[in-house]
Amino acid sequence: MTSSANVELALQADRHLWGHFSSLGRSIDGMPIIERGEGCYIWDNHGKRFLDGLAGLYATQVGYGRVELAKAAGAQAEKLSFFPIWTYAHPMAIELAARLASISPGDLNRVFFTSGGSEAVESAWKLARQYFKLIGQPLRTKVISRDLSYHGTSMGALSITGLASVKGPFEPLVPGAVKVTNTNAYRKPEWVTDDSYFAEEIEQAILREGPETIAAVFLEPVQNAGGCITPPAGYFQRVREICDTHGVLLVSDEVICAYGRLGAMFGSERLGYVPDIITSAKGLTSGYAPLGAMLVSDRIAEPFVDTDEQFLHGYTFAGHPVCCAVALANLDVFESEDLLSNVNNNEAVFRAALDDLSDLPIVGDVRGMGYFYGIELVKDQATKETFSDDEAHHLLRGFLSHRMAELGLICRADSRGDPVIQLAPPLIAGPAEFERINSVLRQALTEAMAESEKLSGRTP
Ligand SMILES: Cc1ncc(COP(=O)(O)O)c(C=O)c1O
Repeated sequence: MTSSANVELALQADRHLWGHFSSLGRSIDGMPIIERGEGCYIWDNHGKRFLDGLAGLYATQVGYGRVELAKAAGAQAEKLSFFPIWTYAHPMAIELAARLASISPGDLNRVFFTSGGSEAVESAWKLARQYFKLIGQPLRTKVISRDLSYHGTSMGALSITGLASVKGPFEPLVPGAVKVTNTNAYRKPEWVTDDSYFAEEIEQAILREGPETIAAVFLEPVQNAGGCITPPAGYFQRVREICDTHGVLLVSDEVICAYGRLGAMFGSERLGYVPDIITSAKGLTSGYAPLGAMLVSDRIAEPFVDTDEQFLHGYTFAGHPVCCAVALANLDVFESEDLLSNVNNNEAVFRAALDDLSDLPIVGDVRGMGYFYGIELVKDQATKETFSDDEAHHLLRGFLSHRMAELGLICRADSRGDPVIQLAPPLIAGPAEFERINSVLRQALTEAMAESEKLSGRTP
């Protein structure tokens, strides 16, 4: 694209495009405009190439430029461009629902489609409420989730979200969303002497609120916000027991962790538990089309089967035939290229490439699993002293994001909790990409240390 065309594009973006979670009016020299992708790489409108270390936004599992997914979308659009699944069905939604049921854990055999992740989480809370009303437990309306967790932006999902910074402007939110401590081992509160505390706190919350009022616990297998927070051994097995004891539903929010991100089709499978509901989106279509899916156990669907009861909820474009056709083609690629094995065979190499950075004093912790890692940045490795909000903001938003992009790497620099860099590349990535990630991070983090010294006034 010519430079005058690029200037015009940037101007139009500046005037008309309202980016999500983005500042308005600063795009002209700051906001990258991404034009095309191929494999693990994307190119901006100036022809600069970037390694996409974040798979779009934890979505592009099979990589960019897949002709088979584009063809599936085109063919379906020609055949049946759209029809809703409100009192009708179409072959693509049926086929995809059956395929998801065949690969999902336990008795999760019913698939309720949505257009994305927030809608899947919203749907799960609403389904839990209606389910309990139908089985004669109408007081069960509340939900439990964890500090710093992100579950989406619609009002219900935002209430389940544990990030104060994104909730404030929209309060009051939906009542009855209770929070418990997340399982960040690196930032464990001093009162936690035993890792069993984290699951037991969920039981304490259930007992405190009154078990008869709790509908569901919403947990990600590996919590994204806060920086790829993994659970301690036995955590989910104990949470499962607690939920069963108190008749509470366990919702596994796998909007990021499903579809291979952790090296298994579902994050719950990797961590060895069977939830009552899985919420998913993103990697279901590798981001080639917007689609979410709530996978529901037969037990929860039961009060709706062969009765006059309907789940009184839906979205016009959920289960869109083009998106379902893309999802089916996407799952075909998972099988034909054995992407799960690629993740499992390379997980240790990826981890090692990140652990290798631990000699940099700014690297406090490396955590995660599969193709999903966070690097927590600290002021002092020995004391784990973190950056102030202003310092973190400057370091991540003002310096690192920009510098890593200059060096050709897209990843996430997140300062909503303690500052972290997050990496979640396409599942086709391998040692060459990890080496590149390592070298860019080493350079950018080394420069970030000098930047942080400058900030704290320790050097001129
Ligand atoms: C765990 C989790 N739940 C829900 C959502 C919301 O999904 P969406 O942005 O598709 O609405 C996200 C988004 O990143 C997520 O990570």
